Amino acid sequence: MVDGRKRLAVIGFGAMARNLRASFRRSGGAFDIAAALVSEANALNAAAEDQMQFLHDPLALIAWKPSLVIECASHGAVRDAVPVLLRAGISTVIVSIGSLADPLLRSELEAAAVAGNSRLTLASGAIGGLDVLRAARLAGLSSVQYVGTKPPAAWRGTAAETLCDLSSVSGRTTFFEGNAEEASRLFPKNANVTAAVALAGIGFQQTRVSLVADAQGHLNSHQVTACGAFGDFKICLHNEPLAENPKTSRLAALSIEQAIMRHFDPIEM
Ligand SMILES: NC(=O)c1ccc[n+]([C@@H]2O[C@H](COP(=O)([O-])OP(=O)(O)OC[C@H]3O[C@@H](n4cnc5c(N)ncnc54)[C@H](O)[C@@H]3O)[C@@H](O)[C@H]2O)c1
Repeated sequence: MVDGRKRLAVIGFGAMARNLRASFRRSGGAFDIAAALVSEANALNAAAEDQMQFLHDPLALIAWKPSLVIECASHGAVRDAVPVLLRAGISTVIVSIGSLADPLLRSELEAAAVAGNSRLTLASGAIGGLDVLRAARLAGLSSVQYVGTKPPAAWRGTAAETLCDLSSVSGRTTFFEGNAEEASRLFPKNANVTAAVALAGIGFQQTRVSLVADAQGHLNSHQVTACGAFGDFKICLHNEPLAENPKTSRLAALSIEQAIMRHFDPIEM
């Protein structure tokens, strides 16, 4: 505890981690982000932060004894740091869910959590409705489809550039159709939501994915449609960007905050 507050640490100190820390500080509640595991390269930038301890090695973070660690960094950080933490008994929330498209990493994380008697929590991130998918799959899901839509500029620097001419898109152009396994491999920077839907529903092979460039919209939109023995549902989100990083949705940062509260709350809602 820090002044009676929970002793939390983040991995990465970019847009989401800073937003999370500022939000907890504003609310003055039970939580404080007081340490960050950062790479040597961005330590200088991070050092300006008040009352924060910056660490460069997962073992130093374990020695710091956090109540909970929150990964807001990258797929690589999930691979390199999270199994070590879980094995040491430190429960961790991750937001770079796309890393779990790798089945070997999923097995490694599960084994580490079992060995350390700790827990790995996946923040829902930029998507919603995962509770419905998880419940519905118990009775059998016959189909799950995810449609991700962004303005053409937001697809620059991705494989979309080789699949369509983004500069000439004037309406809605679907440039990718396939399954979640292919989508995660071809679009690693956009894999977080795809992976979250696949993991909550019918897996990477069976989840159908369409990716769309829409010149008329300015927000990132996510639509999930599912059918099964439970009935069917369709959920659609239009996400505002996070001020500190327009590539990240505000909802993704809020979902981490909520995951932390759920972790400590005696009543999990
Ligand atoms: N689940 C979702 O829906 C969702 C939505 C948006 C972003 N994300 C993921 O969240 C993560 C953070 O997003 P952000 O907007 O804060 O990004 P950001 O680029 O602003 O910040 C990430 C920070 O982490 C640092 N970092 C990267 N790898 C690291 C490592 N191995 N060890 C320590 N630090 C490391 C980077 O240098 C950077 O400072 C990204 O992986 C992104 O893909 C998930």
